[in-house]
Amino acid sequence: MTGQQPLPLPLPLVPGPLAQAPVVPAPVELAPTMDSWSDLVETVTGCVACAELAAGRTHVVPGVYPDGADVLLIGEAPGAQEDASGVPFVGKAGQVLDALLGAAGLARDRVAVANVLKCRPPGNRKPKRSEMATCTPWLDRQLELIDPVLVITLGGTAAEWALGSGTKISAARGAPHQFRGRSLLVTYHPSAAIRFGPNGAPMRALRDDLASAAELVDRLRARR
Ligand code: URA
Repeated sequence: MTGQQPLPLPLPLVPGPLAQAPVVPAPVELAPTMDSWSDLVETVTGCVACAELAAGRTHVVPGVYPDGADVLLIGEAPGAQEDASGVPFVGKAGQVLDALLGAAGLARDRVAVANVLKCRPPGNRKPKRSEMATCTPWLDRQLELIDPVLVITLGGTAAEWALGSGTKISAARGAPHQFRGRSLLVTYHPSAAIRFGPNGAPMRALRDDLASAAELVDRLRARR
């Protein structure tokens, strides 16, 4: 026989040396398509958009959203204990936060918690701007899905995420801001409160701010 034999169809799907790893869409494409919190949690858990963070993490920490929660607390990024457990604010800062929320009368079952970054930065270093930009679509979508009456940012990274780089907590705290059609309060991170001790200014400010938040939430709920 002359000429080429026709190839058998279908072609066998055996990956050759040039086979490419499947392309995972970036958070900016994926996050807006998430229809529910559970879809988002499942999808963000497979995110590898920040290679260094994905390589170093034990767990992605998507956040928690109790049914019916209408307050969203935003922290910076998971620490060692959060990375080990997959749950936000379970370490020392989380214990202080829990105690202060309880004292303020903010019932934990109406409070959702998420971080600007979903993966722990190595050695608990500060999130890089590029990581914040890459991870932001997840938090943007979480905000839309939760639709809280009040957002509370904890610490400088979360304040800058919401109000722009250069935001200073000392200047921004004390009065609600309007943020994407809802109210937002800025306060210190519980780690800062721990660092300056139980009688330090950040602990007092955080306690006062959470008490004000509880009052504001009552008013906002009544209006909704
Ligand atoms: N600090 C944060 O900002 N978030 C956590 O989840 C834990 C510690």
